[in-house]
Amino acid sequence: MESELSLEFVRVVEQAAVAAARTMGRGDRHYADQVAVEAMRKVLETVPISGTVVIGEGERDEAPMLYIGEEVGSRAHSDFPKVDIAVDPLEGTNLCAMGVAGAIAVLAASESGGLLHAPDVYMEKIVVEPAAKGAVDLDAPVKDNLRAIARRLNRDTEDLVVVVLDRPRHAKLIADIRETGARIRLIPDGDLSAGITAAVGGTGVHVVMGTGGAPEGVITAAALRCVNGEILGRLVPKDEAQAERIRSMGIRDPRKVFRTEELAPGKEIIFAASGVTEGSLLKGVRFFGEGVRVNSLVMTCHTRSLRFIDAIHLSKRPDYKVRLF
Ligand code: FBP
Repeated sequence: MESELSLEFVRVVEQAAVAAARTMGRGDRHYADQVAVEAMRKVLETVPISGTVVIGEGERDEAPMLYIGEEVGSRAHSDFPKVDIAVDPLEGTNLCAMGVAGAIAVLAASESGGLLHAPDVYMEKIVVEPAAKGAVDLDAPVKDNLRAIARRLNRDTEDLVVVVLDRPRHAKLIADIRETGARIRLIPDGDLSAGITAAVGGTGVHVVMGTGGAPEGVITAAALRCVNGEILGRLVPKDEAQAERIRSMGIRDPRKVFRTEELAPGKEIIFAASGVTEGSLLKGVRFFGEGVRVNSLVMTCHTRSLRFIDAIHLSKRPDYKVRLF
């Protein structure tokens, strides 16, 4: 599955990114998301799979497209692979609406059952790179986790850079991190791409901590399966209705700490993302007279490949010419 479908999924995220990027800076996050969803859904229809959305834009009654349980893919032949799909057509809707760095279009895919069907609630997370696997504990004090990570990375705690979503709910977490002397990068949105950045060495980011979306947590886990990073996640229901929803999805222990392999247990996993706005992981979409240039990352778990793709899609104008730089 991985080798045949990787580039197909790149086409999907590329078109979602291009559509979203056209709306950059308009100040309308819902519109930006809508065009990304429509573009992603349209291209998905051409992919030779029998796919099911397991993480998407919401429940069937609240999302017209890419809703949880929706069947996607061309489904033209009965022998097309059955694939579970997790999508975030525009991760960082506000970032795109404001023209701020870090918005991406994302998709993860696996064989059936390979991605946790997480409800759309918050998830407490900690993400680290391979060297720090097994060194962190969601219930441990912040200072202990940071000291353990620093030791594994052969650094002092003060050398670490911790990414945290800039939210009032993180006031204590931020205070605790500051007390250790570690440095902090507060981000306005986008803990998914931050998680991938933290899991890859040499990016200057060592850990992501805090509470963000559970769907983003599962997609992060899919990416981390490909780069051998680690995410620990615990669902955080905000009320009894959400707690009930979690139970109805078969998760009996609401305090359960999910590890990477539980969030994304698939044997074969494909993770694909394209930059929408400029970012540290991917460049943003660039439009020019002759076409559009899109920067993507596609990774696979079983076949262990990681490809950065810099694609130029030329316009249909008869006088088009190619300019590389
Ligand atoms: P959207 O793309 O849906 O706007 O989500 C962006 C995001 O920042 C995620 O990266 C993060 O997991 C989540 O929102 C945090 O939620 P909240 O904005 O409610 O704190």
